[in-house]
Amino acid sequence: MHTSDNCQPTIQHEPRSTHGGNASTARYSALSICLHWLTLALLIAVYALIELRGIFPKGSGPREAMKTWHFMLGLTVFGLVFMRLALRLVFRAPPITPPPPAWQQFLATATHVALYAFLILMPLLGWLSLSADGKAIPFFGLQLPALIAPDKALAENVEEIHETIGTFGYYLVGLHAAAALFHHYFVRDDALARMLPWHSRRGRTTAQTQR
Ligand code: HEM
Ligand code: HEM
Repeated sequence: MHTSDNCQPTIQHEPRSTHGGNASTARYSALSICLHWLTLALLIAVYALIELRGIFPKGSGPREAMKTWHFMLGLTVFGLVFMRLALRLVFRAPPITPPPPAWQQFLATATHVALYAFLILMPLLGWLSLSADGKAIPFFGLQLPALIAPDKALAENVEEIHETIGTFGYYLVGLHAAAALFHHYFVRDDALARMLPWHSRRGRTTAQTQR
């Protein structure tokens, strides 16, 4: 069964058939797919909230609310990335049909490692920055503990690193998304179809035209 209509942890990383005319795209599990696109939605909100905070004056209620939501949604990303990594350690990624050359697979793996590092580092640096600044760390009605003792100079440095990596994130995610679209529309393999929440016959069609 190849469904991902909801976030049930249906694990379907293997192709239904690897020979004959019945082969279809081997997809990521429904849960991996949900977490992947949920992370994208959260990241859009996390970036928008902090980039657009300037439309409200400093110290105003709406601006502070935008920052609080930036922190809380960023911390949610932090929680989700460990679920994604756990899934990834248990189940291997489904193969791409037809298989890309080794150098492309290497680049893809390197980008994925960088993306996972980004998803861990950014919230962690944000959390460290608020801690060093002696500020509260809100999380949906809870207060998370400070990770380090207050240190204003350190807070400024950590915040700067957080902002620099935040800028780098636009390029990293842009590169990753462009590669996925390139594979889908130009190489015409099933790299993207494996990660889409709906069914796609891309793998089957491509596999059959290769025969
Ligand atoms: C994936 C998660 C995150 C991303 C991509 C991200 C991205 C960013 C970016 C791009 C900025 C700089 C905006 C600018 O000044 O131009 C920023 C600022 C900041 N972020 Fe994050 N962030 C994330 C998570 C967090 C978390 C979890 C916290 C705290 C718990 C946090 C705390 C802060 C703080 C304190 C600032 C400075 C805000 C200000 O000066 O008004 N961030 N973030
Ligand atoms: C429009 C935006 C995006 C598109 C089209 C896209 C597409 C894809 C595709 C097709 C894959 C499978 C690639 C493969 O196995 O070779 C993938 C995997 C992955 N994506 Fe995205 N993605 C997008 C946004 C993001 C964002 C925002 C993040 C996080 C910052 C992200 C993180 C990842 C990671 C970590 C993997 C590796 C999954 C694994 O462990 O195998 N993606 N994405």
